[in-house]
Amino acid sequence: MEQYIITGGHELHGSIPISGAKNAALGILPATLLCSGVCRIENLPQISDVRNMLDILASMGVRIRYLNKNAVEIDTTHMQNVPTPYEMVRKLRASYYLIGALLGRFGKAEVALPGGCDFGFRPIDQHIKGFEALGATVQITEGGIVQVEAKDGLAGASIYLDVVSVGATMNIMLAAALINGQTVIENAAREPHIVDLANFLNTMGADITGAGTDVIKIRGVEQLHGCTYSIIPDQIEAGTYLALAAATGGSVTVTGVIPKHLESITAKLSEMGAEIEEGDDTVTVRRDSSVRMRRINLKTQPYPGFPTDMQPQFGVLMSMAEGTSILTEGIYDNRYRYVNELRRMGAEATVDGRIAVFEGVERLNAAPVHAPDLRAGAALIMAALCAEGTTVIDEIHYIERGYEDIVRKLKSVGAEIRLVEIPDGAALERAN
Ligand code: EPU
Repeated sequence: MEQYIITGGHELHGSIPISGAKNAALGILPATLLCSGVCRIENLPQISDVRNMLDILASMGVRIRYLNKNAVEIDTTHMQNVPTPYEMVRKLRASYYLIGALLGRFGKAEVALPGGCDFGFRPIDQHIKGFEALGATVQITEGGIVQVEAKDGLAGASIYLDVVSVGATMNIMLAAALINGQTVIENAAREPHIVDLANFLNTMGADITGAGTDVIKIRGVEQLHGCTYSIIPDQIEAGTYLALAAATGGSVTVTGVIPKHLESITAKLSEMGAEIEEGDDTVTVRRDSSVRMRRINLKTQPYPGFPTDMQPQFGVLMSMAEGTSILTEGIYDNRYRYVNELRRMGAEATVDGRIAVFEGVERLNAAPVHAPDLRAGAALIMAALCAEGTTVIDEIHYIERGYEDIVRKLKSVGAEIRLVEIPDGAALERAN
C-alpha cells in the first residue's frame, strides 16, 4: 500500500507545468479505433486512467508505442473487435467510450458496464438513447455486459439529451462520425474536452461542427485517417493547483494552460480574496496567508458553470474561510464523502443531500485520512498542506488516476510531501 505523508503550514511559491487533460485523453484514445491506421497522440498525461485505457486497447490487438513519456503512437491496423476484459474495464468510467467507437466502426460492440469514482447512481441511459436513435439495439446482460448492435446499419438522427452529459455527448459523437447522414445532438455538453474530441475527430477527417455549443452536428464521412494530435491542458489539474495556492497562501503560476477554461474557478478564488493574474497561457494566484479568505456560496453546474470536479477542492477552501459558506452539488447525488475526512482534520461542516455548509475554522489540524475518490483525494492533499502537523493520506491510488507527477510538482513549489510504500505494515520510504 502507498501513502502520502504531508507536513502542512507553509506558503507555496513557484510555477507548475500542467499536463494534458485526462477527460479529453480518455475520449481521444478510444476514438483512434475509428480509423485503420496510425495516430500519434501528444501531451498525453502519464496517469493510471490513461495507462489502463491503453492496456484495454492493447488487449484488442492495437499496437501502442511510447515515443516519450507523454506521446504515443497507436496503430489500429490489426485490431480486433473482441469483448473487452471486465477486470480492465471496471477500473475506469471512460471505458464506455469503447462502445461508441466500436459501434461506429464495426456496427457492433460488447463492453462491460463501466467503473469509475462512486458518486451515487451513475446511469448511462442517455448513451443508450443515443445509440438506439442511430439504429442500434442495446441489451445489458445479467452479468452487466452492454451489447450493442446495428444489424441494419446506423443512420444519422436528431437526439435531445434529457440531461447534459459529457459521456453521452462524446459517445454519440464517436458512434456518429462514420455513419450515413447527419446526426444532431441537442442539449449537448460544452466542456473543453468535448471540443477537443471534436477537433481530434475533425483532424482525422470527420465533419463535426458546433462543439462547445449545446447543438453539435455530425455529418457522417466514409472513412477516417490517422493523424498527429496534441491534447489540451487539464482544466481541473490547473484549477486544483490554483485552489491549493489560494489555500496555503503564497504565489503559484500554472503554465501551459488555457486561461479561458479556468474562468469559473478563478472568479470564485478572486471572490474569496485571492489575487489572479492571467497571461497568454499562464494563470497566477497570489494570497497573503496572514489574511483569512472570505466566505462564498457556490453551485456546481455543467460547463461553463463551476465544475463538479473542483467541488471538493473548494470545500477545503470554504472550511477555512471566515464565516459560513454554502456549497451545492448540481451534478451528482453523493460527492461529499471527503467531508467526514475533513471533519477529522477539524473542519466544521454538515451535509444534507446535495448541500454542504461550512463554518470556517482558523486552522485545520493533521489527522490520518483516506482518499475516497480522485478529486476528494486531491482536496485532502490541499487540506494537509494547510494543516498544522503531519497528515497521512492512504488510498492514494485514486489520486494517481488523474494527477501526473503530483509529488514532484508539489515539491517544486515548496510542499512537504513524500510518497511511502507500506509492505506488510512496515513503512519503506521511496525516493521521490
Ligand atoms: N447522467 C444520466 N444519464 C446518463 C449520463 C449521465 O443521468 O446517461 C447524469 C449523471 O448521473 C450525472 C450527470 O448526468 O448526474 C452528468 O454526468 P456526465 O455524463 O456528464 O458525467 P460522466 O461523463 O460520467 C465526466 C467526467 C467526470 C466529470 C463529469 C461531469 C470523464 C471520464 N469523466 O463523467 O470526471 O465529473 O463528466 O463533468 O470524462 C473526474 O475527472 O474526477 C470525473 C469524475
